[in-house]
Amino acid sequence: MSKPKIFVTRSLPLPAEEIVNQNFDAEFSREPSGISRLELLDHVAGKDALICQLTENVNQELLDAAPNLKIASTVSVGYDNIDVPACTRREVVVTNTPGVLDDTTADFAFTLMLAVARRVVEGDHFVRSGQWAGWNIDQFIGADVWGKTLGILGFGRIGKEVARRAHGFKMRVLYNNTKRADAAAEKEFHAEFVDLDMLFRESDFISIHTPLSRSTRHLVSKIHFAQMKPSAFLINTSRGPVVDEGALNDALEKQIIAGAGLDVYEHEPKVHPGLIGRHNVVLAPHLGSATAETRTKMAVMAAMNASALFQGKLPPNALNPEAFKK
Ligand code: GLV
Repeated sequence: MSKPKIFVTRSLPLPAEEIVNQNFDAEFSREPSGISRLELLDHVAGKDALICQLTENVNQELLDAAPNLKIASTVSVGYDNIDVPACTRREVVVTNTPGVLDDTTADFAFTLMLAVARRVVEGDHFVRSGQWAGWNIDQFIGADVWGKTLGILGFGRIGKEVARRAHGFKMRVLYNNTKRADAAAEKEFHAEFVDLDMLFRESDFISIHTPLSRSTRHLVSKIHFAQMKPSAFLINTSRGPVVDEGALNDALEKQIIAGAGLDVYEHEPKVHPGLIGRHNVVLAPHLGSATAETRTKMAVMAAMNASALFQGKLPPNALNPEAFKK
């Protein structure tokens, strides 16, 4: 019996490619800089399955180009790149990769927090450029992270892992989420539920961990920056459009807040030009889950999700199980 046909938009870590090749007649795009939209639409024609990345939109246009498609498996936990209702209407199962990147992404939120507060990137440039003439009591004075108040916006799996780390840093942890966590979780993570106003007013660091949806687009905007302490920092490892990037740039320009650590941007890979030249902003190129261990786990999970469907099983991470037809 012939194997189902799959298109994979990028090379994957070897263990994931092995799963794909065992279960599918596979075609991989090996373009290091990513595939163009036209090529993607061309390659999905006639395919039964797709493994894609968060930079590729799976929308009505793609579904129209892929009439045989039965599954779209994204190698990411965020799935704002996929029009899930459109997929459900076409009985295309959508899967993502939750759980395996929580610790790694939480580590990265802390990386940004520490990097911006302790001015690591500025110091690195200073040393490399040969300007360092020796220890000085007032050189690159930063802000303590330990013992401060951390406001976590979005208290899902990743937000909770950030809270766990914050406790180790002796921080007070506030959080806001659409749904309040239960008492056991609040106790475990030493986290206090507060409304958005209090979160912005009281926190020394705000770390964003909400998915991007219609209701979270520009959730952090001008009014919130106005509420923040002038000594506070904004950290974003979730999705860029959750923050109004123009308003953030304005808040930094006017010293309404002290700095930012950003891994994600409103119009990736473009970054607001005002942010580029700012010394009090650390900019990373969407690296939250970028470790060899975690990216391998994510890719393996995506490959197993796609494979399960053609073994007659509901993929373990199906986001629209109602689209599954045995
Ligand atoms: C990364 O941003 C992801 O959603 O996995």
